[in-house]
Amino acid sequence: MKKLEQEFIEQFGEEGERALYFAPGRVNLIGEHTDYNGGHVFPCALSVGTYAVARKREDQKVRFYSMNFPSHGIIESSLDSLIYSDEDDWANYPKGVIALFQQDYAIPQGVDIAYYGNIPNGAGLSSSASIELATAVVLRDLFHLSIEMVEMVKLSQKAENEFVGVNCGIMDQFAIGMGKKDHAVLLNCDTLTYKQTPIRLEDHALIIANTNKRRGLADSKYNERRMQCEEALKALQEELDVTSLGDVTEEQFEAYKHLIIDAETRKRARHAVYENRRTMKAVNFLNEGDVEAFGKLMNESHVSLRDDYEVTGNELDAMVEASWKEGAVGSRMTGAGFGGCTISIVEKDNVEAFIKNVGVSYKHQTGLEGDFYVVEIGDGAHRVVEGI
Ligand code: GLA
Repeated sequence: MKKLEQEFIEQFGEEGERALYFAPGRVNLIGEHTDYNGGHVFPCALSVGTYAVARKREDQKVRFYSMNFPSHGIIESSLDSLIYSDEDDWANYPKGVIALFQQDYAIPQGVDIAYYGNIPNGAGLSSSASIELATAVVLRDLFHLSIEMVEMVKLSQKAENEFVGVNCGIMDQFAIGMGKKDHAVLLNCDTLTYKQTPIRLEDHALIIANTNKRRGLADSKYNERRMQCEEALKALQEELDVTSLGDVTEEQFEAYKHLIIDAETRKRARHAVYENRRTMKAVNFLNEGDVEAFGKLMNESHVSLRDDYEVTGNELDAMVEASWKEGAVGSRMTGAGFGGCTISIVEKDNVEAFIKNVGVSYKHQTGLEGDFYVVEIGDGAHRVVEGI
């Protein structure tokens, strides 16, 4: 944090009052590819994330610097000309958030913001949504905006959809905005009603394993899955009175699936329907203290993502299979898929051996080195210190 403050001073100068903000990354425990289908998700905020030191300016300039991308230097724009530009690379995220805020709230002056993120890069733990929410809390705080966190979450998602052009659902921004230490958020993505659920795993730990396989082509395949689900919904709506796949029960799906003519599209919809119901059941098990039953549903989630939704790939499958063999109570891919991370529940006594053996087996299968982290569930986006 000291380093980030020093870097801020080096890049932007010492004068004026600064404050420090933080927004976490996120990991989803279960409920994958259900958010844009109006279903449930169950993510939590991580203790790693994005730090931001920020200061108001007297003029209309907005200037960004990231310690993670020093070669980009300071990226500068102005409040009256915030448009997407390839050249601005990572800074399109904060630019987008400011542009979207500007439409509904008065942002009277520019800002200088320096960022530092400790989320493993490209791992699918939502470093982009983390930058968005860090920027949102900066704006709320510096300009004393009267805006609820849920509204900031929605604006950040809109910035990613409309400004950056990535068609994501609401899960990442919601988990990062509304996360709470030692809790996961059960969110109904249709109504945005949510419940903070304590994660008490007693003698178990949550382990993230990064496959270190970059998510190539992920965006186009993500969009394709979204379109297939929309198509399937339309077909079901011919006879069913539902507004999303999240509305459909397993029984309804089995009774009406013949309406979805294309076999692949039918599989995609089956995942969305069953995964949503699985998520609701899994959270009930967890509330009853049945970690084993929760873990089993995590495993089923992975199988469904592998066979029906087809978003896993060799690396994620190899990591999950090695985790199952090493005695994980539950293990699955997490996030969009096509690379990135898995999440596993492992007995605390077995964590060291698990990491070692899964690492060896994963390397043997794929030739890649995996990285492992014991999850600490942290708080959502907030100001850390003012007046620095
Ligand atoms: C990405 C998206 C989320 C969600 C997941 C899949 O992380 O940003 O909105 O759709 O994929 O569950």
